[in-house]
Amino acid sequence: MTDTVPYYEDFTEIKKKIWSMLTNAVKDRGSPFRIPVFICGNQSDFDGRIVVLRKADETNNLVQYHSDIRSDKIAKLKANKNAAMLFYDKEEKIQVRLKVECTVNHENEITKESWSKTQHISRKCYLVDNGPGTESDTPTSGLKPELDNFDYTKEQSEEVIKILLLFSVKLKLLSGFI
Ligand SMILES: Cc1cc2nc3c(=O)[nH]c(=O)nc-3n(C[C@H](O)[C@H](O)[C@H](O)COP(=O)(O)O)c2cc1C
Repeated sequence: MTDTVPYYEDFTEIKKKIWSMLTNAVKDRGSPFRIPVFICGNQSDFDGRIVVLRKADETNNLVQYHSDIRSDKIAKLKANKNAAMLFYDKEEKIQVRLKVECTVNHENEITKESWSKTQHISRKCYLVDNGPGTESDTPTSGLKPELDNFDYTKEQSEEVIKILLLFSVKLKLLSGFI
């Protein structure tokens, strides 16, 4: 008996398996692939951070996540659109490393559609007064107390579309497995 599975040995099966894990992670909050590390930067300054995978589209070879337009990574991506995403599933023992080319979507149909699918709870992160990574003299969530308690209306959160940034990340290359 061997515990080898088709997606260990066959390139077509490997690709199929990876896309099924990416697609599943968009729906499954418990999937480890749901929170990959996104790495970008220039020649002398690279930075990685956790993001939430919001879309995986095999047909168009792209993945997406949301971010805040005020984030420092925008300037980095303007200077260099090449980036990387790293996923690991401990149970499956599968690591996926993506080399990606990033497109920033802002205040367009893509961001509107994606925002409409976002749940009330997830919108909270975008209601902060200042952008992510802003220095503060005191520890803070960045949210006013009423917002911290989820006390905001759909209309208030609709305003947020103006600062939502969406990366459609085009997968250029798929490398690394297990
Ligand atoms: C579980 C988790 C999910 C996160 N999801 C996102 C996300 O989808 N998009 C995002 O820009 N930042 C997300 N963050 C915050 C980033 O990891 C990072 O702290 C923030 O973006 C500020 O850094 P940056 O501006 O360099 O990206 C998440 C953090 C955690 C812990």
